[in-house]
Amino acid sequence: MYLTKKEEKMSNGEYGETIRKSMDILIALGDIYEAEKLVDIESAQVSGVSYKTIGDAGLEYLEDLASDKLEPSNVNSTLNPAGTDLDNWKSFNFPEDFSIKQNKIVDAYGKLGINTTCTCTPYLIGNVPKFRDHVAWSESSAVAYVNSVIGARTNREGGPSALAAAIVGKTPMYGFHLDENRVPTTAFNVETDLKTIDYGALGYIVGKQVGSGIPYFKLQNTPNNNDLKSLSAALASSGAVALYHVEDVTPEYKNSEITDFITISNNDINETKDKLSTTDREPDLICLGCPHASLEEIKQVANLVKDKTIKNELWVCTSINIKAAADRMGFTKTIENAGGHILCDTCMVVAPIEDMGYEVIGVNSAKAANYVPSMCGLDVIYKDLSELVKFV
Ligand code: F3S
Repeated sequence: MYLTKKEEKMSNGEYGETIRKSMDILIALGDIYEAEKLVDIESAQVSGVSYKTIGDAGLEYLEDLASDKLEPSNVNSTLNPAGTDLDNWKSFNFPEDFSIKQNKIVDAYGKLGINTTCTCTPYLIGNVPKFRDHVAWSESSAVAYVNSVIGARTNREGGPSALAAAIVGKTPMYGFHLDENRVPTTAFNVETDLKTIDYGALGYIVGKQVGSGIPYFKLQNTPNNNDLKSLSAALASSGAVALYHVEDVTPEYKNSEITDFITISNNDINETKDKLSTTDREPDLICLGCPHASLEEIKQVANLVKDKTIKNELWVCTSINIKAAADRMGFTKTIENAGGHILCDTCMVVAPIEDMGYEVIGVNSAKAANYVPSMCGLDVIYKDLSELVKFV
């Protein structure tokens, strides 16, 4: 891979050990995928944050990396969700040892110059690249969203490569950074109108069919940003979709030259919704905000529970930024008065909910329905918000 004079110096350690180690990762990746060069990035989103997934080895690696003096890059970078609400873990009964180590992990990222906002919806809180910007994002739902809905360009980075890109401010130019790799591979005609959790079911079906391909959708109705957030998460988790196109909606859809369409019927959607639940039992925890909730989604919850008392435990997961807006709007108070909570920084998949006494988790996210059984070993119920939340 071609390196500029400055990149060679970075790679030789003239800019310090952390930059040298990060360049090693980027050059190795570039060589594997035959990238011609590195390209400057505008934004990074770094996964590998939860202590549940990276453990002590990850914490030691990050603290070692952060011990070197470093000139931070100008890249706008944020973190993926952590394993706890970083500030309020005690009030939500997160395990103490886990929570202390979790905070150390996030502190180490902060020393490396990464903004310590932990969210999988960075595009809702100011980490928003422009159309055609090169970026290095690693959370799979965010990758699908930023490539497809915003039209910025990223590969599905791993945590270490996104971190290396954030530190150096560059990423190898291959894969989804190139025009020729952004063309649809399979087209789907969705015959039925979709609403709320139908988008997750659609993403689940299509992700399974296309794997790492690029689906093209013809839809009957126009999805809003929350629908596209759900669709992105489902596509990226049941398959490995990094980019999709929706006719008349996403910015690069005109690239399509596909004429053959696979039909998705109302029946397909309904069968998948049923299949995503693993039990008939009532949830003891309802966990919303996968991907992290937008202000509009929190408003919907507040409107639903206003002046009522929720029967089950309820968490709404979001970023600290969106929670601040929900506080000001009075949504947090409304939800708390009904017995629910808004949690920051974390989610039902990367938090240690399996150690917190819960057995059945109610979700309105196909990604969460897919991952909670495998990553937490718990049962899930996949339903729309209005069907999940019960009142006393
Ligand atoms: Fe985000 Fe956690 Fe879902 S990281 S996409 S809320 S599994």
